[in-house]
Amino acid sequence: MSQQDRLVIFDTTMRDGEQSPGASMTKEEKVRIGKALEKMRVDVMEAGFAAASPGDFESIQAVAAAVRESTVCSLARAVDRDIEQAAAALAKAERARIHTFIATSPIHMKYKLRMEPNAVIEQAVYAVKKARGFVGDVEFSCEDAGRSEIDFLCRIIEAAIDAGASTINIPDTVGYAIPEEFGNTVRTLLERIPNADKAIFSVHCHNDLGLAVANSLAAVSNGARQVECTINGLGERAGNAALEEIVMATRTRHDLFNIHTDIDTTQIVPTSRLVSGITGFPVQPNKAIVGANAFAHESGIHQDGVLKHRETYEIMKAEDVGWGANKMVMGKHSGRAAFRSRLQELGVTFDTDAGLNEAFGRFKELADKKHEIFDEDLQALVSETRSASVAEKYSLVSLESRSATGETPVAEVVISDGTKEHRSKSDGSGPVDASFKAIEETVQSGANLLLYSVNAITEGTDSQGEVTVRLEFGGRIVNGSGADTDIVVASAKAYIHALNLLESSADRTHPQSDGV
Ligand code: KIV
Ligand code: ZN
Repeated sequence: MSQQDRLVIFDTTMRDGEQSPGASMTKEEKVRIGKALEKMRVDVMEAGFAAASPGDFESIQAVAAAVRESTVCSLARAVDRDIEQAAAALAKAERARIHTFIATSPIHMKYKLRMEPNAVIEQAVYAVKKARGFVGDVEFSCEDAGRSEIDFLCRIIEAAIDAGASTINIPDTVGYAIPEEFGNTVRTLLERIPNADKAIFSVHCHNDLGLAVANSLAAVSNGARQVECTINGLGERAGNAALEEIVMATRTRHDLFNIHTDIDTTQIVPTSRLVSGITGFPVQPNKAIVGANAFAHESGIHQDGVLKHRETYEIMKAEDVGWGANKMVMGKHSGRAAFRSRLQELGVTFDTDAGLNEAFGRFKELADKKHEIFDEDLQALVSETRSASVAEKYSLVSLESRSATGETPVAEVVISDGTKEHRSKSDGSGPVDASFKAIEETVQSGANLLLYSVNAITEGTDSQGEVTVRLEFGGRIVNGSGADTDIVVASAKAYIHALNLLESSADRTHPQSDGV
């Protein structure tokens, strides 16, 4: 297959996706997502921005060590320190890419960088050459290309390719482009840049106008051969182009695009659930491909048609994207070795026997309550065995809640703050509200509750409920999650998890801050 027939899928869930407020991921969570993306056969995964913080650096290192089949990439501004940090974090990668970028739009050059256009080109060339000193695979991005002048883009891209960049990315950073216009930009660049054939042209579209996928596809129709995208369309502000939509659109309309990806589409739904569980960003029911209703036919006419001949109303098969793929993997008689090996397949390893024992104890408790344990249950269970990078100040010792028709619900909780246990009691409009108020009696965080959501992890009424609680305090937003077969307990765990995240300090440099 020639490069013209192949679309490179570059996943940036762990970098741009992580830039969604509250979606930060721990090292252990990134390794799990990295393993799932590798199983899905993404070509490149951007594991983070190494210079952002020591935590980001270590996460990229861990993903680079765990993933063998896909290329692992780190973002770097076009400055020495960022490129050196990226190279160091990727040292153990089987295949490594450094993705360096600088802003190219008049507004960014003038107000953010405060640099003349010629100096921006010089800096870009310097950064690409420096990155090539560490790795053979260098990507260069023109930040805010969607609002950049075409002549300037031609000049800087030609220079970046000459300096050794083998992928050129055209981001619509602020989600401003319109499909026809964006497609034309990509075609013009490919036609006008003399050395364009020496690089793969890529696009990276944001969804501020709801056009990220449409713009990316217009670019593909005009010659782009890499799309940067995220699971569930996660990403800064309104998000990035959704990987599942790009992959299924090009596959379903192969007649138009005439292009292949290497993605194992049956991994789409499990990976979507994994990312949603880890970040606490629920997937809306009517979301294309991965929403709970994406393949549900409600109207009688549609149901009748589908029963007579599936293609009357279905353009894709639910099982092709991984719906219904969850199978019972373990039960109450499964032993520690089987438990450990299944988790290893999911990318979960334990540094100590104590960690494994704790998770196994929890698994046994769950298996007593719920007879069939699925991969999704195991993922939720290990999410609860929190990574050591999040210092857990508070933990739930016990919870008792009572609600009955015609009575005011009450909850009594016992919380440990690491040194002492505190008991508190409250009423509320429901048992969840009462338990949050009881927790606040003790903790008095003053945090604002921005979001509360419950999702069933698997099917059936014995499913665990997975709860997300988004809290804000002093401008910081965090997402806590908790899972249990009792949703009041799951809610209290999620609330306490969010409080612990607020307690932990997590200062990071934003990649799009002025680095020059
Ligand atoms: O949106 C953007 O421009 C980016 C770049 C850093 C690629 O995320
Ligand atoms: Zn972006």
